Amino acid sequence: MVREPEGNLQQPAKPVLPTKYWFPLLVALIVTGAILAVSEFSSRSFNRTRNDLGQSMGLQSKLLELQKNLAQAEAGQRGFLLTHKPEYRSPYDQAVTALPSIATQARDLAAEDKPGRDMLAALTELIALKMATMRSSLERADTGDFEGALALLDSTDSRALDARTTAAFESMAQRNTAALADRAARWEDSLDASRSGILAVVGLNAALIALLALVLIRDTRRARENAQIQASFAERMKREVDERTAQLSALSEFLQVQSESEKAKLAGELHDELSRFLTPAQMDVNWLAGKCDDDGEVTRRLTRLTELLDSGIDVKRRIIENLRPSLLDHLGLVPAVRWHVEEACKAANLRCNLDVQGNVERLSPDVEIALYRVVQESMANIVRHARAGRVDILLERMTDGIGVTVRDDGVGMADVKVAARDSYGIEGMRQRLRAVGGRMDIDSRPGSGTAVRAFVPQRLSEALDATLTRQNE
Ligand SMILES: Nc1ncnc2c1ncn2[C@@H]1O[C@H](COP(=O)(O)OP(=O)(O)OP(=O)(O)O)[C@@H](O)[C@H]1O
Ligand SMILES: [Mg+2]
Repeated sequence: MVREPEGNLQQPAKPVLPTKYWFPLLVALIVTGAILAVSEFSSRSFNRTRNDLGQSMGLQSKLLELQKNLAQAEAGQRGFLLTHKPEYRSPYDQAVTALPSIATQARDLAAEDKPGRDMLAALTELIALKMATMRSSLERADTGDFEGALALLDSTDSRALDARTTAAFESMAQRNTAALADRAARWEDSLDASRSGILAVVGLNAALIALLALVLIRDTRRARENAQIQASFAERMKREVDERTAQLSALSEFLQVQSESEKAKLAGELHDELSRFLTPAQMDVNWLAGKCDDDGEVTRRLTRLTELLDSGIDVKRRIIENLRPSLLDHLGLVPAVRWHVEEACKAANLRCNLDVQGNVERLSPDVEIALYRVVQESMANIVRHARAGRVDILLERMTDGIGVTVRDDGVGMADVKVAARDSYGIEGMRQRLRAVGGRMDIDSRPGSGTAVRAFVPQRLSEALDATLTRQNE
């Protein structure tokens, strides 16, 4: 079954904001609109009530002015009639001039209030009648009839007109006071309404903020829980990967050791078994060649047989050496490495230099074979990949162990990890060294060659023990 690669699956696009956040945000938007509407409504209502209040107060003041001017006119006229001095008339004359404009202003202020307007019209008519009576009285005084003029003012009709005018003023004032009280109450009502509206909106907003905070707290808690679950899952996976890696390493080390011992066994058996046939055969052929004085076909065939046997013995020796270098077992790491390096350099036409520093005598067999295999694989890599002209090998005894460095002047590598990803040579070296408690690092740059450095910790006493053990063997 062909599986669709996971990367090609169309994932549904995630919304920028989860749906659950939309509701509170939408309500917050509506609430903001409501706040605007409430504020606009309140402002208009305040303005209207303020205008109404201003009109009522203005009308009240105009009524008082009318009343004051009327009283001044009457007082001025009486003063004139009683004293006959013209200067007492001036309040009357001033009132005559002022009253019409005050009446017009009052009418303007009551323009939008029909009943008020009607009452004001009736009042101004009474004022006009009163002024007309005063005017007639003055006309009479102008003829010298002061008595008659006063009598006209004090007549029953004039008194009745005064009483009607006073009553009209009072009812107008009462109405105006009532209107003022009503508008003040409306002002308070709209203040209350606006306060309640704002309180309601603020309450709703507070509830929304609380709701959002709850959602956020819940989401944060969930996210934290998820992160914890993921972290513990990652931790578990890492532990499992580490365990598996350790198992694989142990298995690989075991296989390396097994493989080395199998190779050693095979090398021993090949040596013993093949030597049993090849050595006597070689001796017999040599004996036959010595006895034969024939210059013809027999001698030719004996010579070829000798050559074939020599080649066979050579091949046997090479196979055995590759399986388990006998020099390593008999003489130790330094001669085995020297022999291998010389062979490899000769075959690949490389200039080689082997440097041994300090006492690298006998080491424990597993350390010797591990370091020998590191040199063997490094040389193989140089021959196969490095395109080098020169190789330097350094074997050195350090205070705390043995170090081996194989350095070439070849093409180098850009990234060792990447280069070694799909092969086993470099990783195999690491495994071998790890199995004997050692480590390895590779220093390489493109164009600057490669240096493979291996180190196996080993105290000097261990090396001496190994030497003594081998000598006793
Ligand atoms: N001395 C070197 N100079 C340049 N490149 C090297 C050198 N040693 C290793 N490499 C690079 O590193 C890669 C990995 O080497 P490694 O020995 O692990 O594998 P390999 O030699 O390719 O195969 P094998 O598994 O048979 O050893 C090589 O393929 C090569 O590209
Ligand atoms: Mg290799």
